[in-house]
Amino acid sequence: MTDFLSVRDVSAEDFTTIIDMAIKIKQNPQLWSDRLKGKTLGMIFQKTSTRTRFSFEVGMTQLGGHAIFAQNQHTQLGIADMADEGKVISRYVDLIMARMTHNRDLVALADGAEVPVINGCDELYHPAQALTDLMTIKETLGHTEDVKIVYLGIANNVSNSLSMASVYSRAHFVLCVPEFDPPAIDEEQLDILRDTGYYEEIADPAVAMKGADVVYTDTWINMEYFDDPAFAEEKERRITTFGPYQVNEALLNLSGRRTLVMHCLPAHKGYEVNETVLYHPDSVAFEQAENRLHAQKALMLWLLGEL
Ligand code: CP
Ligand code: NVA
Repeated sequence: MTDFLSVRDVSAEDFTTIIDMAIKIKQNPQLWSDRLKGKTLGMIFQKTSTRTRFSFEVGMTQLGGHAIFAQNQHTQLGIADMADEGKVISRYVDLIMARMTHNRDLVALADGAEVPVINGCDELYHPAQALTDLMTIKETLGHTEDVKIVYLGIANNVSNSLSMASVYSRAHFVLCVPEFDPPAIDEEQLDILRDTGYYEEIADPAVAMKGADVVYTDTWINMEYFDDPAFAEEKERRITTFGPYQVNEALLNLSGRRTLVMHCLPAHKGYEVNETVLYHPDSVAFEQAENRLHAQKALMLWLLGEL
């Protein structure tokens, strides 16, 4: 039984298989329309979501199965042992997807669970997003090998998963950030990435952007802190610190070639990306959002041995 708590839970070969299946499923969804008949996905959310919630639930419906949506505060997860709850939930469902605030809670849930568990985004990783991102690049450019992906802004859960997924896909990943989101620092993964020859850290956006095939950015403030009054001062500091890393037309022009614009969404226009670039003809941000559906259908089929 395999979980998908981080990209590294699967091999590079399996990651590519899932992406290729996602592209096929998108082209011909009816071929898989009853493959998960009678199966149930349990979805647990400690944090808010639009894309993850809709795409997993609709994905399960389109595969002939069913999804249960549970907000954490309406469950006993807050007062019970996480592993016990994972064990119990997996007696009812065939697959679990959880968006937890802390990775340690997700790991505990998965330790107790007797069915595969998917990470729906915690403070360290967002692997389902990264699967979609590499699928979108492959679908748009026809390949991922030797594609130069530049990630600008804050190093966080999204860049952690995207960097590993890029290296798995033999794309060149450049991290162009002034700092890391402290809870997202993963030294073990950084050591692995730095040894691959596919990963670089370049602080200057003008240098990093040269020859970029893809530029990717994400919010400078994660969802759980966005409207938190206790985070207001840090939010202001980040707006100043990360301002020079905004993805805008001037930055896009630095690549000297056609550059796809990517964003996991939700976007904060005027901060990490400006409006012109988000809606630029080379922006695939909304295709990415759609592809969550197709990529996760392939992921669920693969985890359940149905690909
Ligand atoms: N990209 C993403 O995970 O979006 P949601 O937070 O809306 O699920
Ligand atoms: N880094 C963002 C990703 C949103 C999908 C967050 O954690 O809020």
